[in-house]
Amino acid sequence: MTPTATDAAPKTLIGQSDIAARVEAMAGEIVAALGQDFTMVIVLKGAFVFGADLLRALGRKGARPRVEFLGLSSYGAEKRSSGDVRHWTPVPEVKGARTLIVEDILDSGLTVKHAREALLAAGATEARICALLDKPAGRQTELAGDFVGFTIPPRFVVGFGIDWAERYRELAHIAAVD
Ligand code: IMP
Ligand code: MG
Repeated sequence: MTPTATDAAPKTLIGQSDIAARVEAMAGEIVAALGQDFTMVIVLKGAFVFGADLLRALGRKGARPRVEFLGLSSYGAEKRSSGDVRHWTPVPEVKGARTLIVEDILDSGLTVKHAREALLAAGATEARICALLDKPAGRQTELAGDFVGFTIPPRFVVGFGIDWAERYRELAHIAAVD
């Protein structure tokens, strides 16, 4: 089953104001750890909304990060990770840069592991991990987030940029669809 444009909106798991407050606080944690000068690498497509809000929150804390994007996918239209992560954009120019990987959800951890290895191989001196959501129950690697918005149970969620088969990215909140 895949969603259509006429389906009813799914139930809220995390509301818009809770997300906004947490993003603001995370920006503070990031600036305290990394200072003002680093490179955000926003993982496409799921983290584009979170990344945009986080960027502006970082600006309010006095940071002036560079912004890059990395297109990664492992899901297709399914609700499970395929485990086969591929990048569909070139790896950004990050030689000598301190990078912050900005991801929507940490689940198995394989997507972020791939991003981290690609950035370090491209010469980044550091690759910290920032994820809006963490589902630790799904983890298949040692990897942990350095900055995590919300730890959630192993449910399938959408909204705030996160999709199910390319739908529901427009929701201002996080909702569960399982
Ligand atoms: P991982 O590689 O298993 O850690 O999965 C991370 C990626 O899978 C994220 O970038 C998301 O795009 C996607 N993903 C994981 N959980 C969900 C979910 O509940 N809803 C939508 N996408 C998800
Ligand atoms: Mg996705």
